[in-house]
Amino acid sequence: MMKIAIDGPAGAGKSTLARLLAQKMSFVYIDTGAMYRALTLRAQQKDIDLQDELSLCEMANSINIYFESQGGVQLVFCDGEDITEAIRSPEVNSNVSIVAAHPKVREIMVQKQKNMAQCNNVIMDGRDIGEQVLPDAEFKFFLTADLNERAKRRALEMERQGYYSDINDIEINLAKRDQMDADRKVGALKILEESIIVDTSQFGVDEVLAHILSIIGEE
Ligand code: CDP
Repeated sequence: MMKIAIDGPAGAGKSTLARLLAQKMSFVYIDTGAMYRALTLRAQQKDIDLQDELSLCEMANSINIYFESQGGVQLVFCDGEDITEAIRSPEVNSNVSIVAAHPKVREIMVQKQKNMAQCNNVIMDGRDIGEQVLPDAEFKFFLTADLNERAKRRALEMERQGYYSDINDIEINLAKRDQMDADRKVGALKILEESIIVDTSQFGVDEVLAHILSIIGEE
């Protein structure tokens, strides 16, 4: 079984790239950010205090988050409900890194992710995949881009989803999340010694995909 890890800051294009790679290679794609987003959404809906690690852990243990492919689109489900769009809301964007910073919450999520990766060829994207979730991955990519470029791309994406988006607000949100994700004690966003760094600031999706495929030896 082959494992590919893609880590990097918010809005670097990890999920777009991971999805295309998975299609091309017939691998299973696991979007770990969507899992932290799902937990955040449910906690907000149930009015759970986002500092209350114990309650968040109980919830993480009791909910079932899974992915389903429908017509080439990957949908995110939580206990039978399609939450694909709901987890991309500005409220979730603002709070997900608070939820993801709790070490015990991460322990539960990492275990779920490891289970999902078992017995499959997988591409996983997130922050701690190369270090914590798939330490034995054959390839560990660190995908990044300038903050301004990432904010521009995210603004377009938000607009397409029907949200009002101010590029400065987005830039602030991305920078804040990066900082929280990099500063936490467990599962922090970081470049590993073995990371293959890919800066996508100047390149389109197709170029980045071709570059990564050439490294993997697929093309
Ligand atoms: O899509 P975007 O780059 O905005 O973020 P995401 O991949 O959906 O992840 C959302 C948030 O979940 C991140 O900012 C992290 O706080 C958290 N996360 C994490 O802590 N560990 C992961 N493996 C994946 C996401």
